[in-house]
Formats: sequence, structure tokens, C-alpha cells
Amino acid sequence: MQAIAHYIASFDTRQSTEPVQARRQAVLAAAATQQALDAGEGARIYNTACAACHEGEGAHLYGARPQLALNSNVWAKTPDNVVNVLLNGAPEPAHGSANTMPAYRDLLSDRQIVEVVSYLRRTMAPGEKPWPNLPERVAALRALAHP
Ligand code: HEC
Repeated sequence: MQAIAHYIASFDTRQSTEPVQARRQAVLAAAATQQALDAGEGARIYNTACAACHEGEGAHLYGARPQLALNSNVWAKTPDNVVNVLLNGAPEPAHGSANTMPAYRDLLSDRQIVEVVSYLRRTMAPGEKPWPNLPERVAALRALAHP
């Protein structure tokens, strides 16, 4: 019996994933605090245009990688990946996702994109420096031919 119990227990991977889950929880808690404190225009855009898919219940319905605080792009050295996905969307539905990331190229002005991207950076990558030259990056990436 003991040998069987030991064998079955060896399939339990909780010990190895617990530190990762604790880090994920800490990142999400820090992000939630920053989001609650933020009242800028970026926050308004995020709450009205993005949160339905990226937060809470909707996140499970619509998003495959919904929690942006856990997304490496908001922590990256440059804003390019975040700006590109906002301008152009993600054309293929993500695996297991009921929806795709829409393109905001024709819906948000450069200034609004700067606002919402700054909001993502300040609230979801707490402790990271703001991206420099963000308005110039948004204008340059918008000017590129898009898929
Ligand atoms: C209709 C649902 C929906 C809405 C609305 C939406 N998103 Fe998304 N978003 C998604 C899905 C689904 C993905 C995952 C795409 C993939 O990985 O292929 C995604 C991906 C992203 C990513 C890239 C994540 C990565 O893996 O690189 C960013 C950044 C992002 N969204 C930001 C936003 C912002 C900011 C808004 C509001 C202006 C927004 N989204 C609105 C569904 C949505």
C-alpha cells in the first residue's frame, strides 16, 4: 500500500508549480492595486474597450492569454509588440480562444493608443520605467504597412 501511495503521490506536481503560482498571484495583486489607483484617460479606455475580454469572467470566455499583467510584452524593453497588436490585432484566433484580439488602428487615435499603452505599462508592469518616445513609436509603427 505504501509503495502505491508513494507512486501516486509522485504524480503530484504541486510542489514544483507553487512558487510560479505565488509569483503570478503577486503580480496580479500588484497590478490590481495600481489599476485601482489609476484614473487617467488610459484607464477609461482600458475599462471600456479592453476589460470585457481581458479581465474577470469575460477573460475566460474570450481571451486565451487575457491577463495582461502576466504578458511578457508589457514588461518588455520596447513598447513595439504591444503597440503592434493594438494597431493590427491578432489575426488568428488563439488556441482555445473564443475570440480574437481586434485591430484598433481605425478606432483609436495615436494619442489614445499612447494613453492606453502607458496605462498598461504603469499598472500592469509595476516598477518598470515608462517607455521613452512612446508617441514617436506609435506614429512610426502606424506608418508601416500592416498585414
Ligand atoms: C474581443 C475581445 C478582446 C478585446 C475587446 C480586446 N482584446 Fe486584447 N486580446 C484578445 C485576445 C483573444 C488576445 C490573444 C491573442 C493571441 O494570443 O493570439 C489578445 C491579446 C492582446 C495583447 C497581446 C498579448 C500577447 O500575447 O502578445 C495585448 C497587448 C492586448 N490584447 C491588449 C488589448 C487592449 C489594450 C485592448 C483595448 C484597447 C484589448 N486588448 C481589447 C481579446 C481582446
